Amino acid sequence: MHILGQNPLGKKRLIELFLTAENLKNTYYNLLGGKSYLKSILEGHTIALLFLEPSTRTRVSFQLAAKVLGAETILLSENTSAQKGETLEDTIRTLANYPQISAIVLRSSEIQSAQRAVKVLEHMKSVGRLSREISIINAGDGSGFHPTQAFLDLYTLWRYNKLYDVYDCGNAQYQSKRLCGVIFGDVAKARALHSLVLEISVFRPVIYVYSPPRNQLPWKIYKKAAVNGAKIRKISRFEDKIAQTADFYYFIRYQKERHLAADGSYFKEYGCSSNIRNLARKDAIFLHPGPMLKEMPQSSRWDERFKYDQQIENGMWIRAALFKMLLACSQENI
Ligand code: NCD
Repeated sequence: MHILGQNPLGKKRLIELFLTAENLKNTYYNLLGGKSYLKSILEGHTIALLFLEPSTRTRVSFQLAAKVLGAETILLSENTSAQKGETLEDTIRTLANYPQISAIVLRSSEIQSAQRAVKVLEHMKSVGRLSREISIINAGDGSGFHPTQAFLDLYTLWRYNKLYDVYDCGNAQYQSKRLCGVIFGDVAKARALHSLVLEISVFRPVIYVYSPPRNQLPWKIYKKAAVNGAKIRKISRFEDKIAQTADFYYFIRYQKERHLAADGSYFKEYGCSSNIRNLARKDAIFLHPGPMLKEMPQSSRWDERFKYDQQIENGMWIRAALFKMLLACSQENI
């Protein structure tokens, strides 16, 4: 199985992922001998981390997630033969020939790079050059998708009881209104936002989007999310009425490497201002995928509702859970 991010993982699998992440974490912290048990889960596996674009959180968390489950990692970032002109296809083909490698985590500045990687593996299989499964995990493809960031964001919401579908029979968390979030910023180019909108859409939320007029959510993503039952509402100002219903707020930097125009006053307009903090409910939570720039003023970074630190650790457990789901499915559940 590959994680490309084009379509939502879906509620059932997401919840399974969250529960697995919880189990792994509890085992790590609580169970005597838990750490060494965890190390047996992916013993013998090698995971290639092919990071052709800058990364701190995503790279470190994938690397530590593999390590905690006992897998080896090979990090390829700067100085790969891509710099000599080798194509992504040839790099993937090369890695697939090493018999230890069972997954490739790929970050690249090119949209759809993970799909291209999958095509290479399929081709190798079809001509008899590859006989085992290798999972491709999209860790960000240009301004495309970043599914594992969305998984960790949703996991963080879930842990704070901020992820529910009010139309589910039974409505387990007894919520009387639809889940509601406000997304601020560069929704045109930020892959983390694309994945967030898509992955959360299956919970049928209301999502308000406050973004620069020339940076709109790509139509395809809007349409898919709407078909899944999400109500996406573009807003031209943030007001009290919205703050009353919002369960969470999501901020992101201006993706300057993917725009021709400079960011201007983006951080003032689309950042976590004191006005937003004053209007937001006490029980609402604020999220940011990092890296944080001026859109996240220092004073906001220490607001109790800002769950950045939790997102970071959650990111490691969710990626460990994902590795387990993809590579160790036959293992008994812990
Ligand atoms: C995001 C990314 O790379 O898309 N960062 C991350 O993975 N934590 C967001 C960003 O770069 O702004």
